[in-house]
Amino acid sequence: MKIRVSPRGAARLLARHPWVYKSDVLEGPDAPGLYPVQANKGVLGLALYSPASEITVRAFSFMDAGRPQEVLLENLRHALQQRKAAIAREPQGSFRLVHAEGDLLPALVLDYYAGHGVLQVGSAALEPLTGALVGVIQSEIPLQSLLAKNDQKSRSLEGLPLEIKPWWGQTPSSVLVQEGTVRYRVDLEAGQKTGAFIDQRDNRLRMQAFKGKTALDVFSYHGSFALHLAQNFEQVIAVDSSAAALRRALENAQVNGLTNITPKEANAFEFLREEEKRGTQYNLIVLDPPAFAKGKRDVERAYAAYKEINLRAIKLLPSGGILATASCSHHLDEPLFYQMLSEAAADAHRTVRVIEKRGQGWDHPVLLNVPETQYLKFAILETL
Ligand SMILES: C[S@@+](CC[C@H](N)C(=O)[O-])C[C@H]1O[C@@H](n2cnc3c(N)ncnc32)[C@H](O)[C@@H]1O
Repeated sequence: MKIRVSPRGAARLLARHPWVYKSDVLEGPDAPGLYPVQANKGVLGLALYSPASEITVRAFSFMDAGRPQEVLLENLRHALQQRKAAIAREPQGSFRLVHAEGDLLPALVLDYYAGHGVLQVGSAALEPLTGALVGVIQSEIPLQSLLAKNDQKSRSLEGLPLEIKPWWGQTPSSVLVQEGTVRYRVDLEAGQKTGAFIDQRDNRLRMQAFKGKTALDVFSYHGSFALHLAQNFEQVIAVDSSAAALRRALENAQVNGLTNITPKEANAFEFLREEEKRGTQYNLIVLDPPAFAKGKRDVERAYAAYKEINLRAIKLLPSGGILATASCSHHLDEPLFYQMLSEAAADAHRTVRVIEKRGQGWDHPVLLNVPETQYLKFAILETL
């Protein structure tokens, strides 16, 4: 059984973008599964096929070779092998072992937290193969436990149940992860995403290069940036709207013997506005908001929200201050992100120098053919 796509769908696959939308699928099986994809000119690749999903076809190979399941499992082996050296070097660290399309494994995510794994399967085509995927993971990576955290809402659109279930071992209620000189606790079952925001790991480590009196970590979650900033700043304020996240931030400060982090439960927009009115100044500010643009139609509103927090943050920095600012909305692409920052600088009447343009960690690979895989922007700026 094959999937037949329109010339437009074929053009996408020939350009090595793995997604073909429902409107470009001319013919396909009734059931989800792994199938070859073809257009008039022959087979274009192998794909996950999910008839209920808007993104009906997600290719994981662009060749007409091999049995689909074997090719998919080989892609998994390859992804895991690329991370093995990092795990051997830092067994107590945290890494993304599988980054969906970025690893030619659409709809599959696997994260590593100090010897414990968390798996997320987001496609009806992949779900029946979970056992085979788990077999490869078990043979490649030393894990004490593996949890399938399949509670993402998007699974309902695929007709899949929302559930969390162990595959093997006992997942502890919290895992202690080492990140450079800092340790933090992660709750794999109840935390956001698979427990933590691993994509910012290298950016958090980068923050240890800065020193000063006061730092502000806005959208702090578990105090993740604050823990690194507290190594070299006298006082750090960690702001988040979630009281539970801030309780964990305080606990993490204690784990590291730090007494200079003050959690502050607040709406970041209101907090920054109030700080501006009070005329408070910080030597360094981190802004790591949730994705304000979830879809294309949100971009305009999201742009304004990003601009507002960045403009206010710039105003809170003295000359020589540092703003480390992120966006994880792939709909707000890199040029738009820097345009937004330029406008914020101009509106604040400040000269702002770019120290470094960064992105997501190496273990969240980007495919040039798939702009959606380059989602995290992280700018380190200096206010002159
Ligand atoms: C992307 S996460 C931050 C990740 C964190 N910086 C890290 O490195 O682990 C976004 C955080 O923003 C918080 N948040 C969302 N909306 C907020 C708001 N309006 N004000 C303050 N915090 C908010 C969420 O609770 C979440 O912890």
